[in-house]
Amino acid sequence: MSKPTILSTRPLFPEARAILDRYFEVDYWQPSERISRGELLKRVADKEALVCLLTEKVDDELLSNASKLRIAATVSVGFDNMDVAACTKHKVVATNTPGVLDDTTADFAWTLLMALGRRVLEGDAWIRSGTWPGWDLDQLLGGDVWGKTLGIMGFGRIGRGVARRAQGFQMRILYSDAVRAPAEVEKDLNAEFVDRDRLFRESDFISLHVPLLPDTRHLISKENLGKMKATAFLINTSRGPVVDEAALADALERKKIAGAALDVFEAEPKVHPALVARKDVILTPHIASASVDTRTKMAVMAANNLVALFEGKRPPNALNADALGLK
Ligand code: DGY
Repeated sequence: MSKPTILSTRPLFPEARAILDRYFEVDYWQPSERISRGELLKRVADKEALVCLLTEKVDDELLSNASKLRIAATVSVGFDNMDVAACTKHKVVATNTPGVLDDTTADFAWTLLMALGRRVLEGDAWIRSGTWPGWDLDQLLGGDVWGKTLGIMGFGRIGRGVARRAQGFQMRILYSDAVRAPAEVEKDLNAEFVDRDRLFRESDFISLHVPLLPDTRHLISKENLGKMKATAFLINTSRGPVVDEAALADALERKKIAGAALDVFEAEPKVHPALVARKDVILTPHIASASVDTRTKMAVMAANNLVALFEGKRPPNALNADALGLK
């Protein structure tokens, strides 16, 4: 019997390929440059399944163009690249990869937080420039991390992971979220539920862990930046458009806040030029989940969702399982 045909927009990792190759006839996009939109539409047209990345849009146009498609699996927890309602309309299961990247991403938020507060990159650049004159009392003074107030916007799995890591630093933890966490979680993580306004005003470090939704787009606006302490630092490992980059650059220039570390950007791969020019900003290329283990697990998870569907089971990470009435 012939195997179902699928398109994978990346060669993926051997562990995921081993699963896919067993069950499917896979068209792996091999070139090192990204698949173009035109090529994606062309190749997906006769496929029954798609494994894609967050840089590829699964929208009405793509779905209308792929009449045999049964499942679209993004290798990411964020699924703002997928029009889930359109998937449901076209009877396509949409899946993502939640859970496996939480701790790796929380680790990285902390990596940025500490590097930013303690000016690690500026120190590194100074030494490499060959101009560091040796120790002095007032060089590169940063902000303490221990004992400070950490504000976590979005208290899902990753936000909670960030809070868990803060325990060792004797930090006061504030969080905001659309839904309050259960009392035992608050107690365990020593976290206080506050409104956004208080979080902006009282935090020394603000770490963003919200999904990109109409309510969170430009959450970090001129107005909200104006509420922050002049000594406060902002860390974003969520989604770029949560931060208004122009407003952030302006707030830094006017010393409204002390610094920012960004792993995600409004219009990736572009970054606002005013941020690129600043020493009080750390920029990393969307790598918060980029450990070998985690990225491998994400790809394997996407592959297993496909296998489940074609074995007649409910894909474990289906975003529209109820809407499609999957048992
Ligand atoms: C995601 O999974 O949504 C991240 O942004 C990439 O790991």
